[in-house]
Amino acid sequence: MHHPVEPESLDASLTKAAAILRAAKRVAVLTGAGISAESGLATFRGAGGLWEGHRVEEVATPRAFQRDPTLVWRFYNLRRANLATVKPNPGHDALVDIEKRLGDQFTLITQNVDSLHYAAGSKNVLEIHGALRRVRCTRCTRITERGTEALPDLPRCDKCDGLLRPDVVWFEEELPKDVWRPAVEAAYQCHCFLVVGTSAVVFPAAWLIEAAKNGGAKVIEVNLERSAASDRADVVLLGPSGATLPELIKRL
Ligand code: OAD
Repeated sequence: MHHPVEPESLDASLTKAAAILRAAKRVAVLTGAGISAESGLATFRGAGGLWEGHRVEEVATPRAFQRDPTLVWRFYNLRRANLATVKPNPGHDALVDIEKRLGDQFTLITQNVDSLHYAAGSKNVLEIHGALRRVRCTRCTRITERGTEALPDLPRCDKCDGLLRPDVVWFEEELPKDVWRPAVEAAYQCHCFLVVGTSAVVFPAAWLIEAAKNGGAKVIEVNLERSAASDRADVVLLGPSGATLPELIKRL
């Protein structure tokens, strides 16, 4: 694959980014589907993306679930089954490495529902769009961990027999407060905000970049191509996160 960047210029950007990261006592990271691409999971937008094969309105809104829960569950059960076949890549590992250096001064905010950050060994993770491994009862609201086990097309709650739904955030829904509040806090309080593998077009998640800037953080972006975040970034590192993040760590 070719990227329209001279090796020298990527090298210089990496050096600059490493200096910012080294100086930062508190670091927060926002990841998107791109960081899991090298693990073999499809991103949402663009060629071959999940939203190319599925209309968002048909599988990822509360109304879609009301209209056709079987269709929605088939989509999510496929994604759950897919999870059983993938593992973290060196991009996830690099973020574990940064957390080890900073301890509780490090917060990893992810839009991903694949839980690969946990699988890699990250500890302080905020899954702001929920997690495929969990289900939630639409009647009694109980949340349970179901891993990647196969579920029926219309799974029901053990306790109250209510219809279960994936414990993920759909379009038109609010983000869970217990993860959103600390995410805003971490973005606002950090000295360096790392944005990895996200198109940064979905709100409120993308607003965290603004919060970080408003709080005075330097912003480093890692992406295959420029995104909606690039104009607000102090350094843009163009390349696959599975190679770029380990390269960045090497320079710390
Ligand atoms: P997108 O599919 O919108 O964007 C993925 C980004 O990753 C793009 O900017 C790609 O250029 C970049 N990318 C792809 N491969 C990469 C690689 N190997 N290394 C680095 N970058 C790479 O995915 P998200 O931004 O995560 O929300 O999407 C945000 C939200 O929209 C998702 O959480 C989901 C979706 O609809 C909900 O379902 C609520």
